[in-house]
Formats: sequence, structure tokens, C-alpha cells
Amino acid sequence: PTIHVITPTYSRPVQKAELTRLANTLLHVPNLHWILVEDSQRRTPLVSSLLVETGLNYTHLNVETPRNYKVRGDTRDPRIPRGTIQRNLALRWLRETFSRNNSVSGIVYFADDDNTYSLELFDEMRTTRKVSVWPVAFVGGLRYESPKVNTLGKVYGWKTVFDPHRPFAIDMAGFAVNLRLILSKPQAYFKLRGVKGGYQESSLLKELVTLGDLEPKAANCTKVLVWHTRTEKPVLVNEGKKGFTDSNVEI
Ligand code: UGA
Ligand code: MN
Repeated sequence: PTIHVITPTYSRPVQKAELTRLANTLLHVPNLHWILVEDSQRRTPLVSSLLVETGLNYTHLNVETPRNYKVRGDTRDPRIPRGTIQRNLALRWLRETFSRNNSVSGIVYFADDDNTYSLELFDEMRTTRKVSVWPVAFVGGLRYESPKVNTLGKVYGWKTVFDPHRPFAIDMAGFAVNLRLILSKPQAYFKLRGVKGGYQESSLLKELVTLGDLEPKAANCTKVLVWHTRTEKPVLVNEGKKGFTDSNVEI
């Protein structure tokens, strides 16, 4: 099956660096389709030419997050969803593109532009029948969070400190969904309103599966194959001084 990787992205100094690194990972993955969704009014030249130059199989979309949902300044409000409208647009694109094709096979994975992905992760998710799950490093104030898996290989809860009673206490990077399940539940989207911090993933997953349906991967969730890394914001305090720097140079 094709792996459809859905990535929301937005303009900031490190954007091209993030997308370059992610593209370099995705180039090693066979049978992959990258759905890159810009949080912008228009598809930008920076992202357009980057995509062409990668040689990847891709779809380039855009939708701007309404201003009242945007993170203001540097303060991070956990109730303001990041990338949600963009992921929902990609879900709609998949449904519009594949709904009339009953024999379609595919896997859907939500890959933020700043995380670190092992190649093994993509091998693991390719056999997803409904929803597969695995640990994610550097989330929830822990080295890693993980689904709890019993001796029969069934998921029965969540090894997390932060709110383990969430229906699906898992980061965006910790699961993949079979495309047929996405197509068979056409109303399933991420909720935008009234979603508490950490409940975004649950808002989609509870429309798709129950706990007992989950398929643990990565050696019964004992291996870490994805890291929720976050890139430090570069210090650009000298920009605009003494003619520095040349704004025609793309970074
Ligand atoms: C955590 C989760 O890992 C995200 O999946 C979740 O979307 C996010 O929290 C949240 O709900 O707030 P975090 O590292 O805090 O992730 O978020 P970012 O990496 O800054 O953003 C997630 C994705 O959305 C990235 O691909 C980013 O490029 C994109 N994004 C972010 C936008 O498209 N627009 C924005 O204004 C901000
Ligand atoms: Mn992130």
C-alpha cells in the first residue's frame, strides 16, 4: 500500500530546514505520497520549488488557520490547535480523491515537519489494518510515552503521566490509519472547537476505532522509532542592522 504522509507546515525562519530534513527522510521510503499542507493564504514559491526539487510524489495544498485560532506571539496556548485545519483538509482531499475506488489500499500518517522519523517506522505502519500505534519519545514530560500492551498483544491503556484517562493518550506521531477506514467514516475529522490540550488525537481516533481495535507495532510498543523533537528558534537580533542580510537570499 501507498503511505500518505500528511504534513502541516507554516512559514518561519526554520521552515525550509525542517522540510529539507523531512524530505531527506521520506526519499528513503518506497511507495510514499507526501501531502504537504501550508498554513497560508497561498501556496508559497519556497515550498513549491522545494517540493519539485525533492523528486518526491507529492500533493501541495494550502489553507490558512483563521486568525482567532492562531497562536499569538510566543505564548503557547494548548487549546489553540496547531496544524488541525491543515490535517482536516488533507483528509478531505483523500476522500475526494479515493472514495469512488473500492479497491484502493493505503495508509495515512500525520507527520509534523519538525519531528524525527526512523525508516523502520514506515515499514512498521505499512501493515496497519485499522489503526496501529507505537511509542513516541519526548512528549508529555517523559523520555517517551507508550501504549500499554498486554501479553495477548492488545492495547489496554496508556503509559503516560499527563492525563492517562484520555480516550487515546497518544501524540499525533504515534499512530497510523488504514485509508479504507478513513474512507468508510467520511464524517471523521479532528475537532477544532472545545478540544482541551492533548485531546486532539482522541477527537479523531474515537470516531474511527475503540481501544481494542488498536494494533501495537514497534515490537509490541517496546521500541522508540519516532522522536517529538522541536527546533530551537534561531536568534536573529542583528537582522536589519548595517544592511544585514540580503533579503533576496532564501533560507
Ligand atoms: C504537538 C503535537 O505533536 C502536534 O501534532 C499538535 O498539532 C500540537 O502539539 C498542537 O496541537 O498544538 P508541537 O511540537 O507543539 O506538537 O506543534 P508544532 O510542531 O509547532 O506544530 C504541529 C504541526 O503544525 C507542524 O507540522 C507545524 O509546522 C504545523 N503548524 C504549526 C502550522 O501549520 N501552523 C501553525 O500556526 C503552527
Ligand atoms: Mn512539533
